[in-house]
Order: sequence, then C-alpha cells, then structure tokens
Amino acid sequence: MKILVTGSSGLIGSEVCTYFANLGHAIYGVDNNQRAVFFGPQGDTSWRLKELQNSITEFSHHELDIRDRQSVLDLLKEVRPEAIVHTAAQPSHDKAASIPFDDFDVNAVGTLNLLEAARQFCLESPFVHMSTNKVYGDAPNDIKLKELDTRWDYDDATYAKGIPESFSIDQCKHSLFGASKVAADIMVQEYGRYFGMATCCLRGGCLTGPSHSGVELHGFLSYLVKCNIEGRTYKVFGYKGKQVRDNIHSEDVAQFIDLFVNSPRCGEVYNLGGGKDKSCSILEAFEICESFSGKKTKV
Ligand SMILES: NC(=O)c1ccc[n+]([C@@H]2O[C@H](COP(=O)([O-])OP(=O)(O)OC[C@H]3O[C@@H](n4cnc5c(N)ncnc54)[C@H](O)[C@@H]3O)[C@@H](O)[C@H]2O)c1
Repeated sequence: MKILVTGSSGLIGSEVCTYFANLGHAIYGVDNNQRAVFFGPQGDTSWRLKELQNSITEFSHHELDIRDRQSVLDLLKEVRPEAIVHTAAQPSHDKAASIPFDDFDVNAVGTLNLLEAARQFCLESPFVHMSTNKVYGDAPNDIKLKELDTRWDYDDATYAKGIPESFSIDQCKHSLFGASKVAADIMVQEYGRYFGMATCCLRGGCLTGPSHSGVELHGFLSYLVKCNIEGRTYKVFGYKGKQVRDNIHSEDVAQFIDLFVNSPRCGEVYNLGGGKDKSCSILEAFEICESFSGKKTKV
C-alpha cells in the first residue's frame, strides 16, 4: 500500500512511518519541520527525518506545508495514497494563544485541505486524524474530584475509568489550540458522515515515545525525563503536581491505526489512551523517572 503520513518527522508520524514500512508499505512523508518554528531548536525534528531516510527504503519525503492548499491537492493527485494518517499539527495549548492564526491555519484549515484533497483523489482511502482529548475542554474539571497523596482522582463512579466519547465538547473553555482541534475533529467526522469517507478521529491524552522532540510547552513525559537526566529544573504549573494524564506509547498508537486502516468505518471517534493503569500525575512521573535514573528531579 501507499501510505501518506503528515507530520512524518514528529513523534506519532515517524512511528507510523516505521511501523507501516516494517509491514512492507511505501511511505510518503509530509513535514516542513514546523515544530522547530513553533518551539525553537529543541523542537527541531530533522534528526528524525534523517533516521527515517536512512532506515526506510521506500520512503519519500515531501517538505510541504499543509497550509499550502494547492501543493496538498497536487501531491494527493500525484500519489493517490491508499491510506492517509494525519498527524501534523501545532500541538501546544500555551503556544496557540500567541500564534492564533498559525494555530488555526495548521490545525483546522490544514486538516480541511487534506480532507478535500482526499475526497477528490482517493475517496476510498481510510483517513486517520490525530485529534486530542483537549476537544473536551475544561468540562471534565466539573466532575467531582478527590485529593489523594500523589494525585487528583475522579470521585464519581461513572467516570472511574475515564470519560466516554459521548462526553460534551460544547460550552466549555478549550484554549485556542483545543478550539482549532475541535474544528478539525468535527470536519473529519463530517467528511466521514456526509461523503461516506472512512475517517476517524483519535482523541489521545499524552502520547509519548522515544521520537519526541520534547519541549516545555509540549511533550510532557519526554521533557520531564530530559530534565531529570540532564539535571535541569522542571517547573510545575499549579495543582500541586497532582494533575493526572493518561499516557500511551506511540507504537501502540501506530498499531491502532493499522487496525483501523484494515477495518475502516465512517466518521468514527475514539478516545485512545493507555487506560487508568498507565496514567500518572507529575509527582508520580517524577518518582517513576527517579527509580530508573537514580537522580532526583530538580523542581
Ligand atoms: N503528543 C501528545 O501528547 C499529543 C496528545 C494528544 C494529541 N496529540 C496530537 O497528535 C498529533 C501528533 O502529535 P505529536 O506529538 O507527534 O506532534 P509533533 O510536534 O511531534 O509532530 C508533528 C509534526 O508535524 C509537523 N508540522 C507541523 N505543522 C506542519 C505544517 N504546517 N506542515 C507540515 N508539517 C507540519 C512538525 O514539524 C512535526 O514534525 C497532533 O495532531 C497532536 O495534536 C498529541
């Protein structure tokens, strides 16, 4: 199969490239190293591009900005991929507030560019979109919480294992990033339902893995581990460090995408995470990290 992956040098995109290449598929990567523009040199993903170019025989890289509508249309017309995995994004809440146009143009309009190109040139091909659990905004904060020694936990049996996909995404605060991702998420669902395309949105919590170019504003576990190993100070933003995040490894994400591509449906939405067992608070992440490195994290 010909698989087109956007954000192919990033954490999820590069894992997806490797995963599908190992299954014998031809990979068309799309990435313009925008992460370095968003976050500076620490966010540079070109190291990962080099690894992909050196390790995958059937890999072609396209240095293309997904905001460039005509180039997106031209590429999909030329390649006509048999599956599309869309992972390119402006991925940070905090960053979005200072670059609202870039954030919306990449996350919302870039996604629309890809959907429309897919509709025109490869209507039958599964289209997987990396959405986010931030589409639920701050609505989950209204669920009753209890404070434990190292974490906040839901104090409501209905949500003991987390929130369902039917949870409201409406009438709450999202951050500009959350709002641009809602726009993309709804559009991906709409192309599925309206045009009968095999689209899905994957709403993850914290995605992690060895290929993350983690920075303070994005890539929580990667950045936290870096700080511990390199003896840098990790700044905790509120909630006593007891805020909890679901974590899933990028390879598990790639495996799920493979299952969807092989068994596609229209306009689906999935919360994709490691489950409660793989969740941790910042305080718990410090402890786990310290148990491996033997070093205390500077806070
Ligand atoms: N990492 C997480 O914790 C997390 C959590 C929930 C959802 N997500 C979502 O998963 C997806 C992938 O996240 P990630 O952690 O792999 O991000 P990442 O920043 O590591 O990778 C994204 C890649 O997209 C590229 N890119 C950005 N804008 C582009 C543009 N305009 N044109 C072409 N390429 C562009 C970047 O250079 C980068 O290499 C994103 O949609 C993100 O919102 C991530």
